[in-house]
Amino acid sequence: MKEISITSSFIVFDSLNELSKDVQDLMNQAIEIRKKAYAPYSQFRVGAALLLDNGKIVLGSNQENAAYPSGLCAERTAIFYAGSMYPEAKILKIAITAASDTNQTKAPIPPCGSCRQSIAEYEIKQDTPIEIYFMGEIGEVYKSTSLKNLLPFMFDKKFL
Ligand code: THU
Repeated sequence: MKEISITSSFIVFDSLNELSKDVQDLMNQAIEIRKKAYAPYSQFRVGAALLLDNGKIVLGSNQENAAYPSGLCAERTAIFYAGSMYPEAKILKIAITAASDTNQTKAPIPPCGSCRQSIAEYEIKQDTPIEIYFMGEIGEVYKSTSLKNLLPFMFDKKFL
């Protein structure tokens, strides 16, 4: 028997102002698209902004549905659009922000498990780590230098 351990590490910024100008701009675009989320059921709005290596920025917000599972998270809305429109481009950075209409979200909101798995697919496909930044409505911003910190021991194509 043996024990293995996998380490994840994150960099924590006290607020948006501590980030570099380009990441602040990316997060500000995520904040703007978050406000346009279609979230009548959860009233929890999420925005995602992707910076691609061709210079394009792709935005997405969560899109809910009366048949709840038919809705889609902001991150996958954006990443599938990027994969469709710019299949050759690499995703360099993703900025994510979430805010509730009913209470102020101070905690950094990480992507859900399904979004992590989807982001992992593109990180492996492009063979280049994706920087991920996530925050709530205000407060700390977490940075991960790769999706791997968010999904250790991931399932991927090498197991197929
Ligand atoms: N949501 C996202 O957009 N991204 C996540 O990573 C977590 C959850 C959305 C889905 C749903 O519309 C709402 O937030 C509440 O779960």
